[in-house]
Amino acid sequence: MARYAYVNGRYVEHREASVHIEDRGYQLADGVYEVVGIRDGKLIDEKPHIDRLDRSLKELRIDWPVSRNTLGFIIRELMRKNRLRDGLVYMQVTRGVSRRDHGFPTTPVKPALVMTTKATKHIVADAGPGVAVKSMPDIRWERCDIKTVALLPNVLAKQAAREAGAYEAWLLDANGCITEGASTNAWIVTHDGELVTRQTDNGILAGITRHTLKSICNSLQLKLVERPFSLDEAKKAKEAFITSATSFVTPVVKIDGEKVGDGKVGDTAKRLREEYVRFSEAGEAVT
Ligand code: PDD
Repeated sequence: MARYAYVNGRYVEHREASVHIEDRGYQLADGVYEVVGIRDGKLIDEKPHIDRLDRSLKELRIDWPVSRNTLGFIIRELMRKNRLRDGLVYMQVTRGVSRRDHGFPTTPVKPALVMTTKATKHIVADAGPGVAVKSMPDIRWERCDIKTVALLPNVLAKQAAREAGAYEAWLLDANGCITEGASTNAWIVTHDGELVTRQTDNGILAGITRHTLKSICNSLQLKLVERPFSLDEAKKAKEAFITSATSFVTPVVKIDGEKVGDGKVGDTAKRLREEYVRFSEAGEAVT
């Protein structure tokens, strides 16, 4: 458990960290967030994560709570205070504290910024035995490209997956195609060795790990196609895997209880995880 959290200008003991009950994030999910992975005391893909935070804020017309430079400083200070070597930094910005009303506050309100860190095991190149996923309908809204804290459909999907013994939920659109996971992007490898992941638009979150992996695929000269793929295609694929700042590249070996390929971790997912872990080592060190 982290020892300190950052709450609106103060570093406070984590167990005492709290926000006002009329914070619009708490009452209305009127806020956005980012999760940045930390490896060996280095932030993984800091710039694209903060660029995405900027985009999310702009889409919801929430002002930056502090300058971008200050945000970078706070991240590092919190990591330093918590002696974080491996894990993640969570940051959340809400529209601020205001008397409850669905419309935006009519008098100026300062956006609220909170930040926590979480220590995890040092990530390793070894992908382990792979994970199972469970498909279910994607019941989210039409702006899944914004990383908002309004995550109830994701929460319910993840819980249903867990209760079914799976690690992740794969969400299905009205055409029977997989959009993404509850908190990860979804990929398959076809029998022709082609990588497939859904195109980014308002239907999914444009994952930063997904983006980095695209560059890795290019440098390895792997063929990548961004298009929808169905649940049926995924079940018959050679391999499948998920990506996110917290799961990196994690192979999927079972979908709805059915084996993907031979049910073992595939070579492509294995290699991509190794390459991603190598990439993550090159991040900017926090001193
Ligand atoms: N989730 N899709 C969804 C719905 C997500 O919530 C996430 C990230 C991703 C992957 O994005 P990235 O590669 O930038 O982490 C895709 C974070 C980790 C979370 O909510 O904890």
